Amino acid sequence: MHVPLFDMTRQYDTLKSEILQAIDGVFRSGKLIMGENVKQFEREVCDYLNVKHAIGVGNGSDALYIAAKAIGIGDGDYVITTPFTFFATVSCITRNGAVPVFADIDRKSFNIDLDRVEEILTTHPNREKIKAVIPVHLFGRTVDLERLEKIKRNYGVKILEDCAQSIGSKWVYSDGTIRKSGTVGDASILSFFPTKNLGAYGDGGMILTNNDDTNDFCRVFRVHGAKVKYFHEMEGINSRLDEIQAAVLRIKLKYLDEYHEKRIKIARNYTEMINSLSIEFLETPRVTGDFTCIFHQYVVKVKAGHRDRLREYLKTRGVETAVYYPLGMHRQKCFSRFGSKILENTDQACQEVLALPIFPEISITEVEYVVKCIGEYFKEARKC
Ligand SMILES: Cc1ncc(COP(=O)(O)O)c(C=O)c1O
Repeated sequence: MHVPLFDMTRQYDTLKSEILQAIDGVFRSGKLIMGENVKQFEREVCDYLNVKHAIGVGNGSDALYIAAKAIGIGDGDYVITTPFTFFATVSCITRNGAVPVFADIDRKSFNIDLDRVEEILTTHPNREKIKAVIPVHLFGRTVDLERLEKIKRNYGVKILEDCAQSIGSKWVYSDGTIRKSGTVGDASILSFFPTKNLGAYGDGGMILTNNDDTNDFCRVFRVHGAKVKYFHEMEGINSRLDEIQAAVLRIKLKYLDEYHEKRIKIARNYTEMINSLSIEFLETPRVTGDFTCIFHQYVVKVKAGHRDRLREYLKTRGVETAVYYPLGMHRQKCFSRFGSKILENTDQACQEVLALPIFPEISITEVEYVVKCIGEYFKEARKC
């Protein structure tokens, strides 16, 4: 059996007629750049997340770069972020002339450890230059939004939420209030890279904010810095959400919660089945049914040096897996000028994480097969 890590074609089969009709509509409108679909999609995302402004841009990386600039990150500033993330979370800091400060992650959630963040905010030699914190809701798991808001208030720092992997994930506050990731930051970003929970058929991204000035800045910056065409107020860039992608994303947004529910159910199945194997070297994620994790990825920890061997074995059995991420950002060559230090939890995660196939349309038979192969690997390993 072949089990892909991710398969877009199955979703396309179910949405094909709607999608082709929407794309046909764009072609017939003759309005291929910043048309009605981009405008409507921006509005629909605002409604879905309960946020005031949404600005469509070319991809999630541009969204981070523009949003960081919009909230005032610039030359000589320091910005705290997680080392266990995709490159763009950090390059948006350095491309704006600022210095990244890496806070180690929490072992269980893989998210930035907010205790470490507060420690840096109180003890860092350049703490008065710390302008912002960029948390990432990694693999679809929400960072404690209530505590992020407290950090923002108590330390006077800006928050830029990287929600590239978490659109629609929620946090339950101590008073019972529920908010979605991306709604508490001074700005937040989404990615619509095809494999994301809300994925386009190409690149796409979005900036979210409740602040009118930040909204104005981003809208102008994404079109070469010109509010009025050919009159440039700032040196902006060309980064617009494509009209065809917006038309596709409007359709998929209608089904997003349904897709999330399916992912959560698949994650629960994985966890129950893997735990029932009682393998001491495997640690499954804590599964929630309340959208605090929307399982963009289902990531297990494989200990005692078994990760790469298990991965190889699964490959021979037709099961695709991935390692997000094999090297922390604090150890990347391109960021070596900021000094590389030991971040124990991140370094360990890089050695142990393994992402198993997950997408809304994966079948229970496929999930059972993946777990069966994992069981077989450890049965063999015990014999050696
Ligand atoms: C955490 C995180 N941030 C930012 C990005 C960048 O998004 P994009 O690929 O749309 O530029 C990604 C995409 O992989 C991501 O996973």
